[in-house]
Amino acid sequence: MARDDLGRTTLVEGATPELSEGEALLRVDRVGLTANNVTYAVLGDSMRYWQFFPPGPRGLGPQWGLPPLWGFAEVVASTVPGVAAGQRVYGYLPSAGHLVVRPGRVDARGFRDVSGHRVELPSPYQAYRSITGDPAYRSDQEDLLILFRPLFFTSFMLADQVIDNDFYRAASVVLSSASSKTAYAAACELHGRGPRLVGLTSPGNREFTQSLGCYDEVVSYDEIGLLDVVPTAYLDLSGAPSTRAALRRRLGDRLVRDVAVGLTSRTPNADAAGEVFFAPVHMRKRRRDWGADGLDQRFTDAWRRFAEVVGGWLDVRVGVGSDDLRRAWLEVLAGRTPPRVGHVVQL
Ligand SMILES: NC(=O)c1ccc[n+]([C@@H]2O[C@H](COP(=O)([O-])OP(=O)(O)OC[C@H]3O[C@@H](n4cnc5c(N)ncnc54)[C@H](OP(=O)(O)O)[C@@H]3O)[C@@H](O)[C@H]2O)c1
Repeated sequence: MARDDLGRTTLVEGATPELSEGEALLRVDRVGLTANNVTYAVLGDSMRYWQFFPPGPRGLGPQWGLPPLWGFAEVVASTVPGVAAGQRVYGYLPSAGHLVVRPGRVDARGFRDVSGHRVELPSPYQAYRSITGDPAYRSDQEDLLILFRPLFFTSFMLADQVIDNDFYRAASVVLSSASSKTAYAAACELHGRGPRLVGLTSPGNREFTQSLGCYDEVVSYDEIGLLDVVPTAYLDLSGAPSTRAALRRRLGDRLVRDVAVGLTSRTPNADAAGEVFFAPVHMRKRRRDWGADGLDQRFTDAWRRFAEVVGGWLDVRVGVGSDDLRRAWLEVLAGRTPPRVGHVVQL
C-alpha cells in the first residue's frame, strides 16, 4: 500500500525468492486483520513498523509499505538445521506470498528472525513459534490465535500492569474503543477483580459491548458527561482527542491516570496522554520477574480461559487470496467491520 495513502494498494507478481546460506523461506498461509494492523501502518514511520518487511526486494519503491500481519506460515525451504520444510509457525508476517527469514536461537519453541534489518526492532515481533512447541496451540483454534494472540497478549500484560499498580487507586477504570478485541479482552481479565469497569464505545457498538458481560457499565461517547465523578483511570484505545477532552472536562483532577494504549481513531495519542502502554516493555519486566517459561505458562493459562469464551463472541469471516486480503484491509481501514467480525484470509 502507499505509505501516504493507506487506501491505495497494489499487487506485484514476482518470482519466489532464492535462499542464501543461513536463510529459510516461509510461505505466508493464513493471516488476520484487525484495527491493530491499521495502527501498525499509521505508526509505520514513527514506530518503524514499515522496516520489518521492506518492499524493495519485490521491486517496489520506498513510497510503498507492507503492513505487518499476524498468522501462520509454512517453512517451504531451509538451509538451517532445526528448521525444516513442512514446519508450521506463528508469527509476524508481511502482506505477501513469501518471507525470507534468517533463523537464529532455534529450539523446540521455534526460532527468531535475526535478519540484519530487524535486529534493532522490538524483539517480540521477531519470534516464530512452531506449532509443535507452543503450549497455547490447538489446531481447532488456529483462527482464534490468528486474530487474538498478539491482542490478547497485550490485554493480559495491560491488565497485569493495572493490577500490579493496585488499579492506580482508582474507583473506576474507563476503557475507550471498548468494543475492540484488545479492550474487551483486557476488561475480561480485570472484571470483578477491583474497581468498576466502564466501557466507552460508539452508539452502534454499544449493544454488542454490553452483551459481552466484561464491563460493569457501557456508555457511548456522547454520554461521557453522565459518568460518575470518582477517581478514574483511563485506558485509551481509541486515541480520539474529543473523548479525552470530554473525560477531562467531566472528571477534572479525578482523572488520576491517563494511559495511551491504542489509536483506533488513527490519531496518534502518545503525547496527549500521561503515559504510553507498549506491551513489549511490560513483557520485559515480567520476563525478568517470572522467567520466559513462567511468563509463557501464565499467558497460556489466561489464554485457555479466554479462548473458552471468546469463540462465542466472534464471527470469523474467512476470505481467500490477495483480492480478499485487499477487501478486508479496506473494510477494516474504513471502520466498517462490526466488532463481532474477525477477518481471516487464507492466502
Ligand atoms: N499498546 C500496545 O501494545 C497495543 C497492542 C495491541 C493493540 N493495540 C491497539 O489497540 C487498538 C484496538 O485494536 P484491535 O485490533 O483490538 O481492534 P478491533 O478489534 O479491530 O476493534 C476495532 C474497534 O475500533 C473502533 N474503530 C474501528 N474503526 C474505527 C475508525 N475508522 N474510527 C474510529 N474508531 C474505529 C470501533 O470501536 P468503538 O466503536 O468501541 O470505538 C471498533 O469496534 C488498536 O489501536 C491497536 O493498535 C495496542
